[in-house]
Amino acid sequence: MDFENVLIEQHTNLAIVTVNRPKKLNALNTQTIKELHTAFKRLDENTEIKVIIVTGSGEKAFVAGADIKEFSDFTVEEGTELARKGQELLFDFVQNLGTPVIAAVNGFALGGGLELAMAAHFRVASSNAKMGLPEVSLGVIPGYGGTQRLSQLVGKGKAMEMIMTANMISAEEAKDWGLVNYVVEQIDLLPLCKKLAGKITNNSSVAIAAAIKSVNANYTNCVNGYSVEIENFGLSFGTNDFKEGTTAFLEKRKPNFE
Ligand code: CAA
Repeated sequence: MDFENVLIEQHTNLAIVTVNRPKKLNALNTQTIKELHTAFKRLDENTEIKVIIVTGSGEKAFVAGADIKEFSDFTVEEGTELARKGQELLFDFVQNLGTPVIAAVNGFALGGGLELAMAAHFRVASSNAKMGLPEVSLGVIPGYGGTQRLSQLVGKGKAMEMIMTANMISAEEAKDWGLVNYVVEQIDLLPLCKKLAGKITNNSSVAIAAAIKSVNANYTNCVNGYSVEIENFGLSFGTNDFKEGTTAFLEKRKPNFE
């Protein structure tokens, strides 16, 4: 598969996967999700690769969310399928990879972008990064695992606040809240991720894969939560608020919810 929207670099046993749609702030359309799935699958199967870093192209965004233009006229069924397929191909897939994945959050990580960063095994952010789940401002809810993983990482109260207010938090706040492990200047972001990757590669890959599986096992009771999220994400597509929210974004105006 030739990639249109994803770049892969290999440096001996480290791979860097870059989401590359900078003009759309690296928003995740269906094509990009499929390409990311193939990229992560190939790298996980490559025994030379010991760590994967995922980041966004350009200096402004990691990933600004799912592609709003693509899904703005979706039906309830299409919305449900979008979330189900996306979770299966990318978000659950990354979380359950045996190869460690570090998210290098280099700018806006919103909606599906924050959900991708949260599916990674841990996160490092640049000081300009801003994170949030703004879906309710569009009349929809997070659909790529955000309601589950944000609560796991920052606790239920802070997750509820972030989801309900649709507010973005700064990189420093994200660090205080446990959402990212380190905050550095943008120029130092990849070097720090590479340094952490170097430490990981000194250790047993077999043991690390087993550790990832074991840590994730504590969250399997949330499987039902992911299904509830998919169902409610899909149902949002049948509401007038969803039509108004997505149309307002595309028309670059504030929504008028009923
Ligand atoms: N989908 C589609 N296009 C997007 C996008 C997205 N999520 N985010 C940004 N873009 C596009 C813009 O439409 C714009 O395209 P044009 O130049 O063709 O008009 C381009 O990227 C640059 O964006 P802006 O002009 O808006 O840049 P800005 O600096 O003024 O604002 C921003 C930056 C605050 C990140 C703003 O782009 C924004 O609010 N983006 C949407 C964020 C969002 O709501 N994400 C959640 C999506 S829903 C989701 O992810 C659902 C899910 O869980 C499955």
